[in-house]
Amino acid sequence: MLTERIDGEVFERAPQLLVVSNMAVGHNNIDVAEATRRGVRVGNTPGVLTEATADLTVALLLAAARRLVDGCRFASSGDWKTWDPLGHLGQELHERTVGIVGLGRIGAAVARRLRFGWNMRVLYASRSPKPAAELELGATRVELDRLLTESDFVVAMTDLNPSTAGMFDAGAFRRMKRTAVFINASRGGVVNQADLIAALEAGDIFAAGLDVTDPEPPPPDDPIYSAPNLVLTPHIASATFEARSRMAEMAAKNVVAGLAGVPLPHAVNPEVETRTRKG
Ligand code: DGY
Repeated sequence: MLTERIDGEVFERAPQLLVVSNMAVGHNNIDVAEATRRGVRVGNTPGVLTEATADLTVALLLAAARRLVDGCRFASSGDWKTWDPLGHLGQELHERTVGIVGLGRIGAAVARRLRFGWNMRVLYASRSPKPAAELELGATRVELDRLLTESDFVVAMTDLNPSTAGMFDAGAFRRMKRTAVFINASRGGVVNQADLIAALEAGDIFAAGLDVTDPEPPPPDDPIYSAPNLVLTPHIASATFEARSRMAEMAAKNVVAGLAGVPLPHAVNPEVETRTRKG
């Protein structure tokens, strides 16, 4: 599972290990370089959770922008006395600008929903240009700094790696609009959580939606639970019956292939030669 750290220590204690099959598309929990060095094959589950993850990302965006969780709590609190013209005001999505950091498969699926559902302008920041997305979605590739300052909604969809760890920090939140909504459904480690909480408390940004945290779950006394205008879900972006069944099947097929010594259907390190267990 993506919550298990598979590193040198695990490989050291499991000298006969042939294959590690992650039931996730992200594999930052696995030291893939070390696995490759030791000839251990690594599999993951790309593609099958794209739509489910994009749906949940947009759900978080709507929930945070329209203060849905606050509204639900208020509705059942006993304080709901009248219709309040200035109560519970949120941000509109129609024809606003979304900035997606990491326009891979899932990022593009999020952009598609926002472009064609709410006629949003799509900005993206990414290591490489995405001509297909530019053509289909009219997406514009910009420097991160411009994305942060011009976007009404900032969506983190990037891998967690040494260059993205903690990239959404105090400096990034200060660059965003005070009306901005920040969403992260990628990996908790790309966000400096203390800085995000401080930005929400100071009103530097309007709201945030997180499906991922670091660690997961946060400890019971973590200030994340009481941060204002924060919608928090427990890493459920791929949690649909359909996506989780397909992920399980793919993960199982990777294990079977790894043990049988045939190429993994979905390999993270396909350069590792197939081998079978000795003895
Ligand atoms: C993944 O597959 O990496 C997702 O985070 C699971 O929800």
